[in-house]
Amino acid sequence: MMDWTDNHYRTLARLISKHAWLYTEMLAAETIVYQKDNLDRFLAYSPEQHPIVLQIGGNNLENLAKATELANPYHYDEINFNCGCPSPKVAGHGCFGARLMLDPKFVGEAMSVIAANTDVPVSVKCRIGVDDHDSYNELCDFIYKVSSLSPTRHFIIHSRKAMLNGISPAENRSIPPLKYEYFYGLLRDFPDLRFTINGGINCVDEVNAARRAGAHGVMIGRAAYHNPWQVLGHVDSVIYGAPSSGITRRQILEKYQVYGDSVLGKYGIKPHVRDVVKPLLHLFYSEPGNGLWKRKADAAFQNCKSIKSFFEETLVAIPDSVMDSPVAEPLSGRDDLFENIDSLLPTPYKLREQEVLYA
Ligand SMILES: Cc1cc2nc3c(=O)[nH]c(=O)nc-3n(C[C@H](O)[C@H](O)[C@H](O)COP(=O)(O)O)c2cc1C
Repeated sequence: MMDWTDNHYRTLARLISKHAWLYTEMLAAETIVYQKDNLDRFLAYSPEQHPIVLQIGGNNLENLAKATELANPYHYDEINFNCGCPSPKVAGHGCFGARLMLDPKFVGEAMSVIAANTDVPVSVKCRIGVDDHDSYNELCDFIYKVSSLSPTRHFIIHSRKAMLNGISPAENRSIPPLKYEYFYGLLRDFPDLRFTINGGINCVDEVNAARRAGAHGVMIGRAAYHNPWQVLGHVDSVIYGAPSSGITRRQILEKYQVYGDSVLGKYGIKPHVRDVVKPLLHLFYSEPGNGLWKRKADAAFQNCKSIKSFFEETLVAIPDSVMDSPVAEPLSGRDDLFENIDSLLPTPYKLREQEVLYA
């Protein structure tokens, strides 16, 4: 998520969960190509962040090829191509982000070019449609064409359409309704492909509900950012079956401080204390002391020059009982979210072969 899942957030996320797959922010192919002498700033990450997926965006085959080639030595575990971003800054620049869903032939070509320049699997993240092109059959045509024209075998489906005229990116993540039945229709109609569900899933209970209904993978966006401790803190044990680590937020912050102080000012004046602390501001979500800690943080941003001094000045607001407890019971979610999904599935996909091949 742009401005959110940067290196700092991913470092925190990995301290909380050893197994969750982490995704970078979308990086434009052009940024990688134009910054080729400065790539570490955009592409480097610590080895602990594996498994990690690099998401790239773009609409120029040459740049996509070059960007993938430049990223290859960084050994991401998968390269994902963004076909879901509705931002006018992205979608408005010719055909980029969600708008690309209207041109599956190009996406197929782009994915072939990306796959040809990397050693790792490739995937597409998309919506279930764009504007009036929102029928289940059109979504299937997109998946069919992209997977027939390229080696793409994994699709991450943000299960609402994108509306490209008139509403903001944030509204585009809430106004178009979620249609999980389209996602589960894809699982039925493309049994040889892998699908990861995304959109509105908030906790491990709901992740498990999606998996029970057949999803191969589940992507959590905003909930993992707004409440990282509660949401990611149960992933290893509840989803991956690993023993609970028993780690506490005090232990996580001790490690994070070492990381934070080592990166301050690495690129000239950036990152600032504020940049490094930003993902931590949600670590005490709804806990006693959270409001006071945020107020202290606002003041500390004015004068603290290190993460160590920032913690000394602010963490007194958080009671020891919060700092020293392992993660509490998982939040209870909508366990029955997908219970009736089979009765809602769209009519099975009918491949209009001629239209698809000669469109
Ligand atoms: C601030 C922000 C930035 C985002 N940036 C990206 C991005 O760079 N690439 C992408 O594929 N999706 C991006 N998204 C969308 C999320 O990945 C996700 O698809 C969406 O929020 C729905 O999932 P959720 O309900 O779990 O949050 C962004 C979302 C937010 C809130």
